Amino acid sequence: MTTAEICAAARGCCRIVDAVGRAVPELPILVRLSATDWADGGWDLAQTTTVARWAAEHGADLFDISSGGLVAHQRITTGPGYQVGFAAHVRREAGVPVSAVGLIEDAAHAEQIVADGSADAVMAAREWSRDPHFALRASTELGETIDYWPAQYLRARPRPA
Ligand SMILES: Cc1cc2nc3c(=O)[nH]c(=O)nc-3n(C[C@H](O)[C@H](O)[C@H](O)COP(=O)(O)O)c2cc1C
Repeated sequence: MTTAEICAAARGCCRIVDAVGRAVPELPILVRLSATDWADGGWDLAQTTTVARWAAEHGADLFDISSGGLVAHQRITTGPGYQVGFAAHVRREAGVPVSAVGLIEDAAHAEQIVADGSADAVMAAREWSRDPHFALRASTELGETIDYWPAQYLRARPRPA
């Protein structure tokens, strides 16, 4: 990408953060960034880190670091937590709070990502499609007691091992 294209993308992001901040100043602003195009000449991690830093200066509170399937010739290597390194890089180099996404599908893995400082939070998508009760299951697996079990499910609550 040219410097002009990068600056245009960054300006657009910062303007959106400004506008959202003006419209709902009482809410945190979460920004999803596609960390890399996985392709030569495409958007990359260094650019993502720079934009995250700038957007944070405009008031963004947390960056959800993903990556995209947008370029025909890209080569993506997937596997459990395959984008966590991107989140850790942005957190370290830009000094901003991040969440990690991408094939994080069990509670222990999610916990380890936060515990080792790679990310401040973990978000999941496909596991929720498989199991809408993922949070309830995961909290049980981590030995956490949460108080938002729907009453009609209480008798189905898993017993900790
Ligand atoms: C087919 C596919 C295409 C995706 N494309 C993008 C994308 O262009 N940009 C992006 O930030 N995330 C993209 N994602 C990531 C998702 O938005 C989301 O962060 C991810 O699915 C969450 O991880 P999980 O579903 O493994 O829990 C894509 C995911 C899938 C499965």
